[in-house]
Amino acid sequence: MQSFDRIYRSTILGVAGNKTVENLVRSRAWSVAQRFVAGEQLADAVRAVEELERRGIHGILDLLGEMVTSEQEANTFTENILAIFDAMEGRELPIYVSIKLSQIGQDITLPGGENLGLRNARRILARARALNAFVALDMEDHPRVDITLEQFRTLATEFPGTVGTVLQAYLYRTEADRKALDDLKPNLRIVKGAYLEPETVAYPSKTDVDMNYRRLVYAHLKAGNYTCVASHDERIIEDVKLFAEKSGIPRSQFEFQLLYGIRRDLQQKLADEGYTVRAYIPYGRDWYAYFSRRIAERPANVSFVLRGMLKG
Ligand code: FDA
Repeated sequence: MQSFDRIYRSTILGVAGNKTVENLVRSRAWSVAQRFVAGEQLADAVRAVEELERRGIHGILDLLGEMVTSEQEANTFTENILAIFDAMEGRELPIYVSIKLSQIGQDITLPGGENLGLRNARRILARARALNAFVALDMEDHPRVDITLEQFRTLATEFPGTVGTVLQAYLYRTEADRKALDDLKPNLRIVKGAYLEPETVAYPSKTDVDMNYRRLVYAHLKAGNYTCVASHDERIIEDVKLFAEKSGIPRSQFEFQLLYGIRRDLQQKLADEGYTVRAYIPYGRDWYAYFSRRIAERPANVSFVLRGMLKG
């Protein structure tokens, strides 16, 4: 039987895929989207990083955009991501960037067979390494997991310590993927997963996803690896704290990551308790897909959007 969460998510993401709805939301909901998105410009995102830093929370900069099909567009995204490093250089703040490989050409094969996403990722990572920055490769929908993990392995070997990736607890395959990466001692962000996935590949029940989430975090910590616990689920966060304490895992081996604008109180509480906390700060004009996923995560967000749209 399908859970309410799953039915709700598939309804919202299904509706969000409709072009008329997209045009309506794009034209009327920007004021609402700004709860989750720092702004349309890089300067807005840098300002958000600085504000968070003043409160003891680090930032992860994310230029919105995904599933790019043209070479020119993928290269433009790459240039715009490189501009993040220029903007952050010299500010004496940690530089941490998240990218989606589909945004920089993962779907494009160049004449000669080279993957454009991999080529552009190398450019980004070379710049990151020079600045002692860190880049996380976000995980997208399930057909991309194989290629993303394969490209992560290549990049982690070429740029050790500069790149990490994400594993999604809703996929059945994820524990096997985690184990298979273990030789790299990877920096992994563990998330529940934000895409609409079929039951053939993903747990339909939230209870199973939550259980798998804990299992993955504990196993990755136990293996001695750096773990980014990316969730707003307070029960999970409390359990991870306890697990780390009981198992003698130092706080320097993990951090909590949350999304910009979500559970700001919890972000502050964790930072005040002395944990490393990073907020994922999306910015840019392509906010629609990201925004739809945030709405699909929580029923209360729908009324928030509708109220915002009616206000105009
Ligand atoms: P869950 O959905 O169970 O929510 C727990 C509680 O958090 C809710 O009860 C509510 O209080 C609060 N909450 C959660 N979402 C909310 C929302 N949208 N609005 C308001 N409150 C909300 N996914 C992915 O597939 N690939 C990726 O690369 C990433 N990257 C990523 C980075 C970071 C830093 C985070 C925090 C998350 C991601 N995600 C992701 C998204 C992730 O998969 C997941 O969809 C969301 O984090 C929501 O799941 P929670 O773990 O918060 O739990």
